[in-house]
Amino acid sequence: SIPDYTLNNGVTIPEIGFGTWQTPDGATAVLAVQSALENGYRHIDTAAIYGNEKSIGQAIADSGIDRKELFITSKLWNSERGYESTLKAFEKTLSDLQTDYLDLYLIHWPANAKQFSDWKQKNADTWRAFETLYQDGKIKAIGLSNFMVHHLEALLETATVKPVINQIEYHPGYLQMEVVAFCKANDILIEAWSPLGTGKMLNDPTLLEIASNYNVSVAQLCIRWCLQNGTLPLPKSVTPERIKQNLNVYHFEISESDMKRIDALPYIGGSGLLPDEVAF
Ligand code: A2P
Repeated sequence: SIPDYTLNNGVTIPEIGFGTWQTPDGATAVLAVQSALENGYRHIDTAAIYGNEKSIGQAIADSGIDRKELFITSKLWNSERGYESTLKAFEKTLSDLQTDYLDLYLIHWPANAKQFSDWKQKNADTWRAFETLYQDGKIKAIGLSNFMVHHLEALLETATVKPVINQIEYHPGYLQMEVVAFCKANDILIEAWSPLGTGKMLNDPTLLEIASNYNVSVAQLCIRWCLQNGTLPLPKSVTPERIKQNLNVYHFEISESDMKRIDALPYIGGSGLLPDEVAF
C-alpha cells in the first residue's frame, strides 16, 4: 500500500492521490475511479466544479471498499463562498459522493482583491464554516487550494483551526517557491495539482533524458520528484495503464544531482490560472 504523510492535525493521508480534474462525468469517471481503486489508490481528489462527484461516488460505492480505508477530498466552489452557503454546498457534495463525511475539504480558490474589496472577510467567513464542519466531525481535515502567501497570511489572522494543506499547481518548471516555502515554514502540506503540467512536461528533453536513465517514464519521474520534494502529487489519468504506472514510483530513487537538475529547469509557467487574476 502507499505510504502516508501526516498532516498538522495528526490525520494521515496517502502520499499520492488520484486526480480527477477534466475527467468527464459519467462512464469515463466511473471507469477511471474503478481502475484507480483496483490498482491500489485509496486517495481520490475531486471538486464540486469538476461536475463528476456523482460518478465518483458511484464508483466508490460499487467498489465495496470500506469507507475508512479511503481518503476523499473535495473542494468548495467559488460561487458558494460565505458561511451559510458553504454549509449548504458541503451537504450537496456529501450526498453526491454518497458518503457521510469527507477526509479533506478545501476552499477551491481564494477570493481575491481584484474581484472583491472585502476578499479577506469572504475568505474568513468561508473558513469559519469549514471550522464548524471540522469541529462537528463532518470533515477530518480542512485546507486550502490556490492560496498565495498574502491570502494565507490574511486567513491565518482570523483562523482558529490551522489549514492542513494548500493544493497548488506544482510541477517541474513551475515551482511556486514563495508559497511553498511559506507553507513548509507553517507545517502546511503542499499538494501538487497537475504534477505532469497537464501533460505538457512529458516531452521535455531534459526530463526524457533523466527518466530514461532510471528506466521510467517522465510521468513517473515527475511524481517521484514531487514526493522527494515533500509534496503530494495528484496525477490525473483516465487511461488504465497510465493510472497504474503513476503509482509505480517506489522501485527507484532520483539522485540528489538529478533532483537539482530538475529543480533548475527553466521557468515554464503554469496553466495560466492565477489566483489574483482570474475571476471565476
Ligand atoms: P489521460 O487522462 O488521457 O490518460 P496532470 O495530472 O498534470 O494534470 O496531467 C494529466 C494529463 O497527463 C492527462 O492528459 C493524462 O492523459 C496525461 N497522463 C497522465 N498520466 C500519464 C502517463 N503516465 N503517461 C502519459 N500521459 C499521462
